[in-house]
Amino acid sequence: MLPHPLSFLQLLFAASFAFAQNWTVTPFIPPATPLAVRGPYLQSWMNQGVTNGSLNSGWQSYRDGSKLTWTGFLRVDGQLFDWMGDRQNYTPAVQKETVFTSTKTVITMTCGSVDLTATFLSPIEPTDLVNQSIPLSYLGVEVASNDGNPHQVELFTDIDGEWLAQPDQFVQWNTTVGDVVTHQFSLQNQTQFGEVNGRLRYGSIVYSTEQVPGLTYQAGAAGVVKPAFQTTGALNNSVDPQFRVIQNNWPTVAFAHNLGTVLSTKTPPIVYTIGYVRDPLVQFPNLPNVNNLRGPYYLTRYNSISNMITAFLNDYTNALARATDFDNKLFTDALDITPQVNDYANILALSVRQMFGNIELTSGWDGTTYVQTDIMAFLNDGFTNAVDIIYSAWPALLYTNPAIGRYLLEPLLAYQLANPVQGGYAIHDLGASYPNVTGSSIDYPVEASGDQLIMALSYTQKTSDNTLITKYQSLYDQFGTYLTQNGLYMASQFSSDSFAGALPNQTNLAVKSIVALKAASEIFLILGDTNKSQHYDSVSASFLTQWQNVALSLDKSHYTLSYRNDPSWSLLYNLYADRLLGLNVFPPSVYQTQTKWYATKLDQYGIRLDSRSSDAKTDWQLWTAATVTDSSLRTTMISLVKKYVTSGINSGPFPDRYNSVNGQMATFMDRTVVGGHFALLIVPDVMQGGSSGGNGTNGSNNDKSGGVSTAVSPPLTIAFTLLATIIYTLL
Ligand SMILES: *[C@@H]1O[C@H](CO)[C@@H](O)[C@H](O)[C@H]1NC(C)=O
Ligand SMILES: *[C@@H]1O[C@H](CO)[C@@H](O)[C@H](O)[C@H]1NC(C)=O
Ligand SMILES: *[C@@H]1O[C@H](CO)[C@@H](O)[C@H](O)[C@H]1NC(C)=O
Ligand SMILES: *[C@@H]1O[C@H](CO)[C@@H](O)[C@H](O)[C@H]1NC(C)=O
Ligand SMILES: *[C@@H]1O[C@H](CO)[C@@H](O)[C@H](O)[C@H]1NC(C)=O
Ligand SMILES: *[C@@H]1O[C@H](CO)[C@@H](O)[C@H](O)[C@H]1NC(C)=O
Ligand SMILES: *[C@@H]1O[C@H](CO)[C@@H](O)[C@H](O)[C@H]1NC(C)=O
Ligand SMILES: *[C@@H]1O[C@H](CO)[C@@H](O)[C@H](O)[C@H]1NC(C)=O
Ligand SMILES: *[C@@H]1O[C@H](CO)[C@@H](O)[C@H](O)[C@H]1NC(C)=O
Ligand SMILES: *[C@@H]1O[C@H](CO)[C@@H](O)[C@H](O)[C@H]1NC(C)=O
Ligand SMILES: *[C@@H]1O[C@H](CO)[C@@H](O)[C@H](O)[C@H]1NC(C)=O
Repeated sequence: MLPHPLSFLQLLFAASFAFAQNWTVTPFIPPATPLAVRGPYLQSWMNQGVTNGSLNSGWQSYRDGSKLTWTGFLRVDGQLFDWMGDRQNYTPAVQKETVFTSTKTVITMTCGSVDLTATFLSPIEPTDLVNQSIPLSYLGVEVASNDGNPHQVELFTDIDGEWLAQPDQFVQWNTTVGDVVTHQFSLQNQTQFGEVNGRLRYGSIVYSTEQVPGLTYQAGAAGVVKPAFQTTGALNNSVDPQFRVIQNNWPTVAFAHNLGTVLSTKTPPIVYTIGYVRDPLVQFPNLPNVNNLRGPYYLTRYNSISNMITAFLNDYTNALARATDFDNKLFTDALDITPQVNDYANILALSVRQMFGNIELTSGWDGTTYVQTDIMAFLNDGFTNAVDIIYSAWPALLYTNPAIGRYLLEPLLAYQLANPVQGGYAIHDLGASYPNVTGSSIDYPVEASGDQLIMALSYTQKTSDNTLITKYQSLYDQFGTYLTQNGLYMASQFSSDSFAGALPNQTNLAVKSIVALKAASEIFLILGDTNKSQHYDSVSASFLTQWQNVALSLDKSHYTLSYRNDPSWSLLYNLYADRLLGLNVFPPSVYQTQTKWYATKLDQYGIRLDSRSSDAKTDWQLWTAATVTDSSLRTTMISLVKKYVTSGINSGPFPDRYNSVNGQMATFMDRTVVGGHFALLIVPDVMQGGSSGGNGTNGSNNDKSGGVSTAVSPPLTIAFTLLATIIYTLL
């Protein structure tokens, strides 16, 4: 029997390393291990870095590194072991194994004569929008005797108010007892739609478990509740009535389960759910025909938050099975990209909870009800729905459900339709005060206009749904006009990589314009406006000719960072959009030239973004990897990103920006752009140098996208199954 719910394929191909830290890790030690990551405000990570922290070597971290308190004790024949959280005052359990997949982190701890398995499950369910919108995560705990003898076992977990706010905040709490027992914390002084320092000023943290025989609970001072469990193995079902500041005697909410006599067979899991709930979710600007008060999408299926919690709790077994299917499908698809090693599959496994954890799905309040068909999605990476962030993450949205991509674009487009922009370029974002959505704040005109046109065509190609381009065709024409006037010889402006500074005449930004203008041509062709289509087609073609003249270095060895600036250079990651859309705007020679150039630019930990500094981005490197014509370079590029993320020198949720020379992360943590790592799943084939180049195949007939229900091609599945079976049998 397998020790955890993974396919044997994953076990086979996953490298297990036993390091000095004394427990096995599959597939590798990341900068931070996701525990409960489901929504922008439910972010519990176990930071790793040089200490390779175990589950009980310290406290968990919020996305910004601040402390979260989640304790786990197991009492075995009267002796207390600490298996989660800071262990300084208790006997530590010994960590044996950590395994993470796309949706789960499974950790096994030895508590004397009993082993405990903790399954942290944050489901990814992009094809069911209600499921996906639920901002809760599961913890399932199973125990078994490890010495053949029966043991009397009690289980304890608790959380405190730091899950909600900084420790100096005044909180209140309560416990609701029914078929489900739910503890909740909320701020006493709430401000709807308020956010301060990355923490909300309203809503509640909810911690729940099923009402079963042997369950006890308590809300009170940590220094009272924990010793009570240590002494008696139970809690007294009381709720401390004295609300106070979080750090004043640390009020904690706890559950204890008497598991009775435990034998060598694993007990059925004790399941907890933890989440951050609020209603409404988002305030959108007042626009004609738009419901601006927006609630959690799950309220279109469940009539209350507590009913949603009960349904989610009861769904654990099925959710675990669906999650395992998702893990296995993604793993198998990704294995095609680096078949000899599982580097690519493992990078994706670490990316996907982070990416979806940042997205919230809403429905609009029409005055009476939340309208099921009125859907908008939001993400907050500093700016609300920044279009370049959506663009970077677009490959993951295409792979899982392109409709979520559309729901992310819709707020930007709806806002701009009602609030025309002088100059006609696309807006970059919807402000910086999420969940109070206030409207456009900063301008990245070429970047944003290009991103919108490219994603609009991509969505339409992928779904055959023309309603997006039909609804917003006037905007797409404005973006096309703006790019026609500014997209080639642009004045100094920012690209997505604003940390690198503004620049005029950016080669890579012009690649985006050229592809986007061709996309505009395709959009108007689909809309039946052949005149506009021909117009944008000829602008794109003319730009390409001019671009070749100003952007290629004089010695023809590479394309420059900005025109006529030999020896500057940059990653031309926007070429990926040409491949994604199957447009073949750029000739094979461009891809071949860049491939040869990149091969000479490999730093210790990857390829830098451009010649200005050793700043590197994981997302754009993997986009670029999908444009190189040499499969061994592509594999090397993937392995260098993996080398960075497994180096053990960084700490925090997948930091996408770093120094390619020394591997040190920069400040970008826990961002949605890790969805860009999916680029090779959508455009996986390498164009072979020297042959017909980009026309051998195109993106749309090779990708793996289309949601989890799309099957892998049968011959491949059979081949892998056969191979795996042979190896498995040999072992
Ligand atoms: C942490 O893991 C690294 C490998 O990633 C290993 O070299 C190092 O010895 C470990 N450190 C500790 C403190 O266990
Ligand atoms: C390593 O594991 C062994 C056996 O499980 C245990 O006895 C020992 O205490 C562990 N060491 C550390 C540092 O956790
Ligand atoms: C518990 O607290 C929440 C948040 O303050 C409140 O909405 C809810 O009504 C309370 N429930 C009970 C049973 O007091
Ligand atoms: C409540 O919080 C707001 C900030 O969200 C603050 O301005 C206000 O002073 C607080 N009120 C009280 C009574 O603490
Ligand atoms: C939300 O934004 C609106 C419009 O800018 C403003 O009036 C309101 O005070 C803001 N609310 C919060 C909680 O910041
Ligand atoms: C439960 O324990 C707390 C803390 O020791 C105590 O204040 C309270 O009176 C107890 N409640 C009951 C019902 O025994
Ligand atoms: C999630 O989706 C599955 C399948 O569509 C459904 O059976 C289940 O009830 C959903 N879970 C919740 C909590 O709604
Ligand atoms: C942009 O490039 C063109 C062509 O090389 C040049 O004429 C123009 O001066 C450049 N613009 C800026 C702002 O450098
Ligand atoms: C076609 O487009 C051109 C500009 O590209 C415009 O001058 C002309 O009037 C358009 N013709 C029609 C029939 O719309
Ligand atoms: C890309 O492939 C699709 C599906 O086979 C095909 O319909 C389309 O014409 C191709 N596009 C190009 C530009 O070759
Ligand atoms: C690639 O295919 C497109 C259309 O499918 C065609 O217009 C273009 O000329 C081809 N390019 C090459 C280099 O064969």
